[in-house]
Amino acid sequence: MIVVIIFLGVQPSFAPYWTETGDKAGTLSALLLLVVIYPGISRRFKLKGIFLDAQIIIQTFRKELGISMYLLGVCHYFLLKVFPATILGFGSVIATRPFEFFGTLTLLLGLPLFLTSSDWTKQVLKKNWTKLHKLVYIMIGLLFFHLFLQSPTELSTILVGLGALTETASLVYKHTTVGKKIV
Ligand code: HEM
Repeated sequence: MIVVIIFLGVQPSFAPYWTETGDKAGTLSALLLLVVIYPGISRRFKLKGIFLDAQIIIQTFRKELGISMYLLGVCHYFLLKVFPATILGFGSVIATRPFEFFGTLTLLLGLPLFLTSSDWTKQVLKKNWTKLHKLVYIMIGLLFFHLFLQSPTELSTILVGLGALTETASLVYKHTTVGKKIV
């Protein structure tokens, strides 16, 4: 949390303070989404050694990381759209550009995951919880388009693109004979 506050707090100037903070919240949110999908990818590829250690560590904090990812996404949206439209009087609170449409879909798909993130809902929903949380596969793809339509060569776009590709590859691997043969 302290790292997040420092990361968001260090600003070069006040000028578009909310824009820079909003960008940083979006970047952190995207990075956390990548972290959150890692255990699934590692498990499907049956990775060992340091990769398995990372999988176990992330798995332990996955709920907290997922919640932080969603809340940072909400902060990003409020700072870049809601605050300028309502307080400053420019722009609109809803998506007006294609890349914003993909960002909105990412955030909307994250809502049911956020609302069902507690241990209690996990116990109540049982298998349906696992099915519902598969929405994260779609979220990473939508986020990729949100970033790609803005700046295709940006590092965050490339990382999220690689994350989406690896996620897809791991799902294909799991459901093919190649993945099933190795115990
Ligand atoms: C979980 C959902 C979302 C994530 C993870 C996310 C992530 C990001 C990232 C990483 C960037 C690039 C930041 C940079 O250039 O430093 C960005 C930019 C942007 N996002 Fe999102 N986004 C999300 C949802 C949304 C939504 C719902 C909207 C509005 C409808 C939105 C509007 C924008 C805008 C306007 C920019 C460009 C900012 C600028 O040019 O400075 N995003 N987003």
